[in-house]
Amino acid sequence: MKALVIGSGGREHALAWKLGQSPKVSKVYVAPGNAGTALDAENVPISEKDFPALIDFCKKNDVELVVVGPEAPLSAGAVDAFAKAGIRAFGPNQKAARIEGSKVFCKEVLNKAFVPTAAAKAFDSAQDAYRYVDEGDEGGFVVKADGLAAGKGVVVASSKAEAKEAIKQIAEDRAFGDAGARFLVEERLTGQEASVLAITDGHTIVTLQPAQDHKAAYDGDKGPNTGGMGAYCPASLVDDEKLHWIEEKVLLPTVVTLNRLDAQFKGVLYAGLMMTPQGPRVLEYNARFGDPECQPLLFRLKTDLVDVIEATIDERLSEIEPLVWDERPAVCVVMASQGYPGSYEKGFPISGLEEAAKLPDVKVFHAGTKLVNQFVCTNGGRVLDVVALGDTVADAKRKAYEAVEKISWQGSWYRTDVADKEIKAVQN
Ligand code: AMP
Ligand code: GLY
Repeated sequence: MKALVIGSGGREHALAWKLGQSPKVSKVYVAPGNAGTALDAENVPISEKDFPALIDFCKKNDVELVVVGPEAPLSAGAVDAFAKAGIRAFGPNQKAARIEGSKVFCKEVLNKAFVPTAAAKAFDSAQDAYRYVDEGDEGGFVVKADGLAAGKGVVVASSKAEAKEAIKQIAEDRAFGDAGARFLVEERLTGQEASVLAITDGHTIVTLQPAQDHKAAYDGDKGPNTGGMGAYCPASLVDDEKLHWIEEKVLLPTVVTLNRLDAQFKGVLYAGLMMTPQGPRVLEYNARFGDPECQPLLFRLKTDLVDVIEATIDERLSEIEPLVWDERPAVCVVMASQGYPGSYEKGFPISGLEEAAKLPDVKVFHAGTKLVNQFVCTNGGRVLDVVALGDTVADAKRKAYEAVEKISWQGSWYRTDVADKEIKAVQN
């Protein structure tokens, strides 16, 4: 069959690469894709938001399976639109995607399902929220815009003044537009974070191996939050016992509660967790694969992803064999443009991609790249995701950085400590 991946980041490159390995898939298209997906698949110049044009393309080219990567088209109803046109699409429908698209809805689901999470209160008035903060503890707040804000609508405040400034920006200045019409003020938790993703058809969950993202821009988890500067998988922070607990106390009750709310979830349910001294707490849900977590996850997955995707769409996940993983850990290092996560320039030619591609057990997934006159040039903040498998996590890290060091462009940079926490943890 022919498949279409929607999106243009590193996650979509990894999805296209993995789908292309399935014996069931004869051709993979990516819309709109990037310079990397152009190598492993065929790009189609249609925006991820243009559902009529995407549907038209699928019909004209006999595309039988669509995989929607990013949250924006899912929240805008991509899967509903494809279903209506008779095209099988993987991902939650618009109603279920609200678990990511509305943080207020997500919190309601968590509370209804008795899933451990930070205490929170929803507001639509800045004045009420200022009063709430004044009555609380100094330094104990996180302010979150309700709607999608490209990962930027969350402020972890270290003082009441900072919390109030965040409320002002979100609710009064509307820094994230209508996404800030409602917002949450929640209890600030501390601990290490982990990403636990499960594929579910609304009845059965198939949990993927735990991963860890590196959200802060700079080494030592310093600097501003980003979309993620690196990831590794598996993450020993979530051992088998904890993973089982998360399935029982977090993922299953969430899936059941969504069913009760007439929002059956089919797709990837991604729990962003904080491992607090009191146990795991859900910080947020995403309705899709994490980026960059998807890249090391799919690099290790041996099972044919198409089988899992089709079983999800057909609601027969309970019938599939357990997933098979490469035993070796994977480390992913993100290479970024100078200035990211703030403003940055695009269009710099990238050198060293071919040398890096020759290294064994390494794959360079493209995130923000574009072909300009046959040269691969930068076209985003996060530009490349360099993934490597190793016998140990330290070995995977070494191989990933060996590849990273072969690649450069004007202003390229990356964190140098990806997976260090895991290396330390497995040494102890
Ligand atoms: P979210 O988009 O809700 O995952 O938030 C983005 C990031 O903000 C998370 O990865 C955490 O680092 C941080 N964060 C979110 N909620 C909390 C919380 N209640 N306490 C502490 N940090 C948080
Ligand atoms: N890696 C974080 C995310 O995909 O939201």
